[in-house]
Amino acid sequence: MTEPNQEAVVTELTEPASGSGPDDGIKHRKNGLTRGVTEELAENMRQGWADTERRDLEPIPQAAHTARRRAELSARFPGERLVVPAGNPKTRANDTDYPFRPSSDYAYLTGDQSEDGVLVLEPGPDGGHEAVVYLRPRSERGNGEFWLDNHGELWDGRRNSLTENEQLLGLACRDVRKAADELGRATGPVRLLRGYDAGIETALAGRTTTGQDEEFRVFLSGMRLVKDDFEIAELRFACEATSRGFEDVVRVLDRAEGASERLIEGTFFVRARVEGNAVGYGSICAAGPHATTLHWVRNDGQARPGELLLLDAGVETRNLYTADVTRTVPVDGRFTPLQRRIYDAVYAAQEAGIAAVKPGAAFRDFHHAAQRVLAGYLVDWGLLGDLSADRAFELGLHRRWTLAGTGHMLGIDVHDCAHSRREEHVDGTLRPGMVLTVEPGLYFQEDDLTVPEEYRGIGVRIEDDILVTEAGNENLSAALPRHADDVEAWLARLRA
Ligand code: GLY
Ligand code: MN
Ligand code: MN
Repeated sequence: MTEPNQEAVVTELTEPASGSGPDDGIKHRKNGLTRGVTEELAENMRQGWADTERRDLEPIPQAAHTARRRAELSARFPGERLVVPAGNPKTRANDTDYPFRPSSDYAYLTGDQSEDGVLVLEPGPDGGHEAVVYLRPRSERGNGEFWLDNHGELWDGRRNSLTENEQLLGLACRDVRKAADELGRATGPVRLLRGYDAGIETALAGRTTTGQDEEFRVFLSGMRLVKDDFEIAELRFACEATSRGFEDVVRVLDRAEGASERLIEGTFFVRARVEGNAVGYGSICAAGPHATTLHWVRNDGQARPGELLLLDAGVETRNLYTADVTRTVPVDGRFTPLQRRIYDAVYAAQEAGIAAVKPGAAFRDFHHAAQRVLAGYLVDWGLLGDLSADRAFELGLHRRWTLAGTGHMLGIDVHDCAHSRREEHVDGTLRPGMVLTVEPGLYFQEDDLTVPEEYRGIGVRIEDDILVTEAGNENLSAALPRHADDVEAWLARLRA
């Protein structure tokens, strides 16, 4: 971004109206914000605004945690300037943007969610760092910026002043319009979290290397493997709100006309917006054979009696932590015998997977435990010829129907810590404070000629969010029933 040029703004203000009425600038602010603005209107708009600066702000609840996280980052990269951008809004069309969500690492290290923000850890002479966050300041009234700039506060709403943000975030704040220039002029080694802010990348072009920046990304991702108390409380709340969202969906499932996947998606979304920030990922509202498509987010089908509904959805909290929960329920309240048989197998696999989540266990243990159970059922059902379950598992033949891994880390991203080092994540061991999903499933595609016809089009997944504790684990999403009997009783109770 560039420094606002008061001269330029005033010059534009004094340009004669070119045939447009005085309102035009407001209606079409991107392509003619200043058109029709008379000197008298400009002068009028400069004045008569109250001082709304807030001077009694307390730090956000996360501030002590973000400070500790920054200290950990500082200790890993002494003497280097570290740059973590929030990212810029993405234009959808003309003057409308997609909803903005800051980069997860920026939010993790600052507790802030502002568009265009840039966190910089500036190396100090003692080997530590001074943290500064560059932010959009409040819009000036005097030069007309607040209403003539496309992102003026008159249009976008009041922002915190830099001083207010300093109190809230516990961080020094500077005007983001100076960030590129100041970073460009600074000397010494720099690392940048790439992929979020093209302007900052241009300012630092040639000053960072891909390899070092990748190492920085990997370290940032790994920092988030073990959750602190604030994060665990957020994930706990995300799961609670998600449970309420699932209950909302069950209550609309038996609408006389048949519930559409869109109605289900919208119903869950209302809960997510009311209790949280949004959904943590596109809700998968998959009825009937759609349940066999793992990334079914089109949600344009109908949930019909006799079918299963696979709902995979999570509320993202206002601090951006998300739940990731799946329940597969019979639309009319009762599993058919075959649906129940498949459901019970997935349930048994999930039980085995959850039991394998404990400190010191290999990360992959829960996956192997759950998959081995599923392989056993598939052999028992005669779907793998006369192979033993062990042999089928060894050959991976069960994977035709289990399709995906059994789970992943969860946190501020639904697939959290995805860039972390293999040795401390997928090839590592579980530690207290880690949170992961356990989500086995069986998916029989509609056109799968290798299974009996009655299996085709059935998909079942059960997914819970599991916190590794000192003693073993805690299921954060246990409020939602999982056992088939409990699922049926739950549906009956909510529809009574
Ligand atoms: N909903 C995404 C997942 O389960 O991983
Ligand atoms: Mn999921
Ligand atoms: Mn998941």
